[in-house]
Amino acid sequence: MEDSTGEQTTISADTAAALSLETTITTLPPQPESQPLSKRAQKKIIKQERYEVKKAEKKAEVKEHKRRENERKRREWDEKLANLSSEEEKLKLIESKREMRKERMEQRSEERENKIQRLTQGKLHGQNIVIDLEFSNLMKPNELNSLVQQIMYCYAVNSRCTSPGHLWLTGCEGNMGDHLNRLPGFDKWIIEKENRSYIEALQEQKENLVYLTADAETVLDDLDPKKIYIIGGLVDRNRWKGLTMKKAEEQGIKAAKLPIGNYLKMSSSQVLTVNQVVEILLKYLEMKDWKASFFQVIPQRKRCDADSGDPEREIEDKEKTEDVSCTKNQKKMKLSETDSEGSEREVEIGEHEKSKSKPREDVESESQKPVEGK
Ligand SMILES: C[S@@+](CC[C@H](N)C(=O)[O-])C[C@H]1O[C@@H](n2cnc3c(N)ncnc32)[C@H](O)[C@@H]1O
Repeated sequence: MEDSTGEQTTISADTAAALSLETTITTLPPQPESQPLSKRAQKKIIKQERYEVKKAEKKAEVKEHKRRENERKRREWDEKLANLSSEEEKLKLIESKREMRKERMEQRSEERENKIQRLTQGKLHGQNIVIDLEFSNLMKPNELNSLVQQIMYCYAVNSRCTSPGHLWLTGCEGNMGDHLNRLPGFDKWIIEKENRSYIEALQEQKENLVYLTADAETVLDDLDPKKIYIIGGLVDRNRWKGLTMKKAEEQGIKAAKLPIGNYLKMSSSQVLTVNQVVEILLKYLEMKDWKASFFQVIPQRKRCDADSGDPEREIEDKEKTEDVSCTKNQKKMKLSETDSEGSEREVEIGEHEKSKSKPREDVESESQKPVEGK
């Protein structure tokens, strides 16, 4: 864009978003006179539009970055070749690159094969873990997107396990199903996809169904291979408090909560995200150690400082902090969060996951890290 001085000016992403927003708002279809859009509805539309604009910008940014990277690599390669004096050396370099690529591809295909084998075994003999997807009408579009990302993450984590669980997605109909089907490679996922609800699909095993919910009285002490553990596929910032507990009660199935309180103090509520719960279950299956599983999955800043994961230090800390459970800051967090948000304020992954590379190839997508449903 040129300004009045004839100089090139660039518009910021925010301005572009705002411009685009204005266009959208002014081009909204005229509403019937009797039904003007409420302020809330208008705000909702603006928020959604802003989100879409940001998403598109991010996508374009990633694409551009990729293009530039490829260009840079090609330039480097051309320079490398040009610096070689003889044809023979050039051919040698080309050949070695070809070999390396072949090796890389063979390695990848071997990894893929192994992953398929592990997941197939998991489907046959693994612990049944159900993600209940019957709540799509209770979520905002961004929350639904966040849930889809969490599901991708669950799948990726499961496929990396030495002994994966048998993952189920039940109630994959309608909006939820459309979202999932749009995921690249979803049709090839080795996972149980079930349009029916779990209560229908698994009716013959009703006595083995256990709904995991932070609102249960019963505390889980071990995982029983015969049981089928259900996790509520919900990103709600705890807006729907007690919903899954109520569902389990109404359906007459068991409910249990993770034994978080037995092992650590949380700086906020004990409501975790779907991917955190799945990951904790998978870790527990692997290590048979709740404490280690919690420490590896629940991000440190959600735990009180006293919880170091080091038993000796913890006994000392416990003595010191018997009455004072949290630091001043954490108390503040507690107050501000207990009203509605709980631990789901941020959809996140444990500390150890942050240091790992992205599980890209498992779900054939770059954006694996679940994001907050803002
Ligand atoms: C973000 S929470 C949804 C909270 C929702 N308000 C509810 O009523 O369950 C996602 C799911 O993770 C599981 N979950 C979260 N924290 C848990 C805990 N401490 N113990 C057991 N399950 C938990 C539950 O299945 C829950 O439905």
